[in-house]
Amino acid sequence: MKILVTGGAGFIGSNFIRYWLKHHPKDKVINFDSLTYAGHLESLKDVENNPNYSFVKGDITNQEEVNKAVKDVDIIVHFAAETHVDRSILDPLVFVKSNVIGTQVLLEAARKFKTRFHHVSTDEVFGALELNTKDKFSHNTKYQPNSPYSASKAGSDHLALAYYTTFGVPVTVTNCSNNFGPFQDTEKFMPRMITNLIDGRNILIYGDGKYVRDWMYVEDHCHAIELVLLKGRVGETYTVGGLTEDISNLELAQKILKIFGLPESRIEFVKDRPGHDRRYAVDWSKIHDELGWEPSKNFDERLEETVRWYQKNEWWWRGIKEKSESIYK
Ligand code: NAD
Ligand code: DAU
Repeated sequence: MKILVTGGAGFIGSNFIRYWLKHHPKDKVINFDSLTYAGHLESLKDVENNPNYSFVKGDITNQEEVNKAVKDVDIIVHFAAETHVDRSILDPLVFVKSNVIGTQVLLEAARKFKTRFHHVSTDEVFGALELNTKDKFSHNTKYQPNSPYSASKAGSDHLALAYYTTFGVPVTVTNCSNNFGPFQDTEKFMPRMITNLIDGRNILIYGDGKYVRDWMYVEDHCHAIELVLLKGRVGETYTVGGLTEDISNLELAQKILKIFGLPESRIEFVKDRPGHDRRYAVDWSKIHDELGWEPSKNFDERLEETVRWYQKNEWWWRGIKEKSESIYK
């Protein structure tokens, strides 16, 4: 099988490529990425000489480049996007271009070449849940995005499913909660906390810190996508989440401080994010019941492994951090 991975130089895309080459060593994987500030080919150093891996520099908003890449692949796994909510508040236009137009351009190619299309999306399209409730997002939840990022991802989800209904493109969609693990850009909360502590700085908590995310390990996400590609029903949406039981940002910071052996005085409260979604939680029973997927149960171990990874891999993140911190100045 020949798989085109868009956004393969990003966090989840690079983990997915490594995962796929390991579990499907006979398949060919093509990484299609325009290398924005978030694209790092260094994340794939260990597979760059694998004869079944190749890289194509290209932009998903460019139909010609996309058609050339899609022409003879069997599956498109679409990760490429602008992904940072804080950036979408500073500069929404590029989110609409890459996430909405880029997805439409890819779907046109999938339609033209009759290619299977998997769209990787987010739980943020469903908006926010209340604290202290048992509510969860599922494939039946109404879309109610609150940030330019989530609104653009919502647009891309609708386009993907519309191409299935209108043109019969074999589309599947996954809406996943917050991922963590190696090779995540230091602009995101978990690596920002870890690398700030490594640098002797404080953890910066937006607002009151009583915001809840449904954390899951990136490899679990890769496994979920694998199952949907191999056994999922086309035209369907699968929601994917973790097992962290409503851990708040503040509690997550406390766990990380414990791993470092540092006091809670290293937490600093800063100005809140506008439109900040209070709580995310995902019901993953559909992908569990239909495809046998479930998240791994060892969150604390995975968290500690992730901290150790950043401690050992400063070569990877040091340059990235300098650039990502510049958006906060
Ligand atoms: P990321 O920001 O780490 O990487 C995005 C990648 O896309 C980069 O390599 C970048 O160069 C590439 N890219 C951006 N615009 C492009 C364009 N116009 N043409 C070609 N390449 C382009 O992203 P991530 O965190 O790995 O997220 C990947 C996907 O998963 C996104 O679609 C995101 O919405 C979704 N998602 C992310 C999370 C999460 O927690 N990170 C959770 C659920 C869903
Ligand atoms: O839910 C899935 C989404 O998770 C993905 O679709 C997005 O691409 C991904 O970026 C992530 O979005 P969040 O906004 O939840 O992630 P972020 O890491 O930016 O923030 C996580 C939480 O931590 C959120 O409540 C904001 C807060 N935060 C973030 C930063 C960067 C802080 O308190 N301090 C920080 O420094």
